Amino acid sequence: MKLLYWYLAAVLDIVFSCGLHNHTASDTFSSVVASLQWPGSYCDTRADRCCYPGNQKPAADFTIHGLWPNYADCRRGLVTPDATTRCWPDYCNATDPLNTSLIKDLEGDLLRNWGTLSCRHRNATAFWSHEWRRHGTCSGMDQHAYFRAALDFKARFNLTHILADAGVAPSTNQTYLLSSIEDAVTKATGSAPSVECNRNGRDEMQLYQVFQCVGRDGKSPVHCPRRLESRCPDKVKFPAF
Ligand SMILES: *[C@@H]1O[C@H](CO)[C@@H](O)[C@H](O)[C@H]1NC(C)=O
Ligand SMILES: *[C@@H]1O[C@H](CO)[C@@H](O)[C@H](O)[C@H]1NC(C)=O
Ligand SMILES: *[C@@H]1O[C@H](CO)[C@@H](O)[C@H](O)[C@H]1NC(C)=O
Ligand SMILES: *[C@@H]1O[C@H](CO)[C@@H](O)[C@H](O)[C@H]1NC(C)=O
Ligand SMILES: *[C@@H]1O[C@H](CO)[C@@H](O)[C@H](O)[C@H]1NC(C)=O
Ligand SMILES: *[C@@H]1O[C@H](CO)[C@@H](O)[C@H](O)[C@H]1NC(C)=O
Repeated sequence: MKLLYWYLAAVLDIVFSCGLHNHTASDTFSSVVASLQWPGSYCDTRADRCCYPGNQKPAADFTIHGLWPNYADCRRGLVTPDATTRCWPDYCNATDPLNTSLIKDLEGDLLRNWGTLSCRHRNATAFWSHEWRRHGTCSGMDQHAYFRAALDFKARFNLTHILADAGVAPSTNQTYLLSSIEDAVTKATGSAPSVECNRNGRDEMQLYQVFQCVGRDGKSPVHCPRRLESRCPDKVKFPAF
């Protein structure tokens, strides 16, 4: 019994030392999740928490939530020596905070495409800073490359346009098949998305966020190594904004 115990401990120790010590947080992720958000579904469910930047209503277009490095599968103790199950790395470099002078040339583009509608967190710079510290520092990209990659991805695959092309247009009354949304995105990008829904004021489920896996360079859509979160019924609203 004792022998078996030591044998197992030795084997486990090898397994864990491989998992823990020579994989840094940022070199073990398999893909990056590009996450886009529909402003209409942010605002009609959080009436008290939706504020337009500069009191100007933004364009009726998806906005960037973030670009998130993502593991192929969720594992215990993959990065941290504790027993928490991790599905993605985060906060990989505490000594690399956002330095806005490094992304000055992107600021106009970021304000248009990666804004915030939160009334509590009205400063978009703080939002970018959070996304960079939590996810960007794990991406292996520098600050400029990270923000550039997110903007380029959104511009290359205009989701609002992709959906409109498939007859899925923002509407007060229309209800859409979730599958028609998924099919439109899959056809246009070559990779199946995950769709997250939230509830509007009438308690109806509506298209809220669209997640897509892209390669480690943040550029090309890839097949997602694991099923991402998706909480939508078969039929959803897509509210006007
Ligand atoms: C990880 O570390 C172990 C033990 O030090 C070593 O045997 C192994 O070759 C290393 N693997 C990589 C990918 O560096
Ligand atoms: C963290 O960021 C600093 C500043 O950019 C850099 O010098 C350092 O190499 C980074 N550390 C890691 C582990 O990437
Ligand atoms: C931010 O980046 C600029 C341009 O590279 C550099 O001059 C400045 O020292 C940086 N600021 C901080 C706080 O690191
Ligand atoms: C956010 O606040 C900082 C500090 O007050 C300011 O320098 C920056 O321009 C603000 N960002 C935006 C997008 O308004
Ligand atoms: C995306 O497509 C929509 C709908 O066709 C269009 O109104 C919008 O201007 C496009 N956005 C960008 C950034 O080109
Ligand atoms: C949506 O439905 C409401 C109530 O049935 C109706 O009054 C309104 O005209 C409809 N709007 C559109 C754009 O069809």
